[in-house]
Amino acid sequence: MIPMLDLRREFLDIEDEVVAAVIEVLKGTRYVLGPEVEAFERQLAKYHGLSHCAGVGSGTGALFLSLASLPISPGDEVITTPFTFFATVESIMYVGAKPVFADIDTRTLNIDVDLIEEKITDKTKAILPVHLFGLPCNMKRIMELAKKYNLYVIEDCAQSFGSSIDGKLTGTFGSAGCFSFYPSKNLGCYGDGGAVVTDNKEMYENILALRNHGSRGNYIHSVVGFNSRLDEIQAAILLIKLKKVESNNAMRRENAAIYTSLLSSAVMCPDIPMGYTSNYHQFTIRSPHRNKIKDALHEADVSSVVYYPVPMHLQKPLEQFGYRKGDFPVAETASEEVLSLPVYPGLSQEAIGRIAEVIKKCL
Ligand SMILES: Cc1ncc(COP(=O)(O)O)c(C=O)c1O
Repeated sequence: MIPMLDLRREFLDIEDEVVAAVIEVLKGTRYVLGPEVEAFERQLAKYHGLSHCAGVGSGTGALFLSLASLPISPGDEVITTPFTFFATVESIMYVGAKPVFADIDTRTLNIDVDLIEEKITDKTKAILPVHLFGLPCNMKRIMELAKKYNLYVIEDCAQSFGSSIDGKLTGTFGSAGCFSFYPSKNLGCYGDGGAVVTDNKEMYENILALRNHGSRGNYIHSVVGFNSRLDEIQAAILLIKLKKVESNNAMRRENAAIYTSLLSSAVMCPDIPMGYTSNYHQFTIRSPHRNKIKDALHEADVSSVVYYPVPMHLQKPLEQFGYRKGDFPVAETASEEVLSLPVYPGLSQEAIGRIAEVIKKCL
């Protein structure tokens, strides 16, 4: 059986360090918003070359609190991609705004920057690009539009930790970068976790209050906030895993290069524009014979997953906005053709060869 991920192997690699760190936290008895969270926030801000980082309860919390920290009110609009995980859209709807979609680029599967400008209205407050599967969006064009129309840019970096354009990391282009540390992410903890990185002091201070019931911990509440805090155990684990993330990302890139050399004649492989670096959170192929490939892999005991089978505009909670099938045809076709293959660090070259053989044989 070849799984999508091998989290057990990753854990066994760092077991002693993790166990020691967790025991220290348990003995220290500061379990929420303590020194480990502060140390991790400092490290993450430094890693991104930014002034601020706020640890929060999840990637969804990072997105939602970033939007909530801005002057966005019910009825406002936020432009995003229809091809993403549902949390992107949920976070927009939590603040009462309308998710306005621009279709995706068929090559990169990210928001098509040529389609954003026509979606901007006097209600548009922000653009929320998602660096899907680890590939950065065209941030140069997005930031030009944001500047021209005076819009905020909240980057959904849940899948793009360590990805960059000409060496500049995702999360450092817009007003804020939002990360998820869900266990399967490139930097994952052993539960839920997330963080916002930003150079915007006002947003940062708003988020510090919003994550903790609208208070900085002194029982004086400036706004109605939420409970979305990174806990000390997860922060201690993340500090250890942060040291490994770059070598793990490099292993994913090596695996992706092997897949591409074996498969590019048979299926569409990820197309990385010049100067862009993907962390290959997913290695996602495209083929009109997607279902046949998936079945053949299943028969051969190889895991594969369809991220994502239904684009956002066709999800039930969005019916209220009146979107219809056919509105975003590129995203709709992608959802019928994509398939993500195992690409995790530690996956053997032999396993990649076997997976490629199964795919080529079935076609
Ligand atoms: C693109 C994207 N955005 C947001 C999220 C939400 O992150 P979390 O599960 O940590 O809330 C995820 C991941 O799950 C994601 O893949």
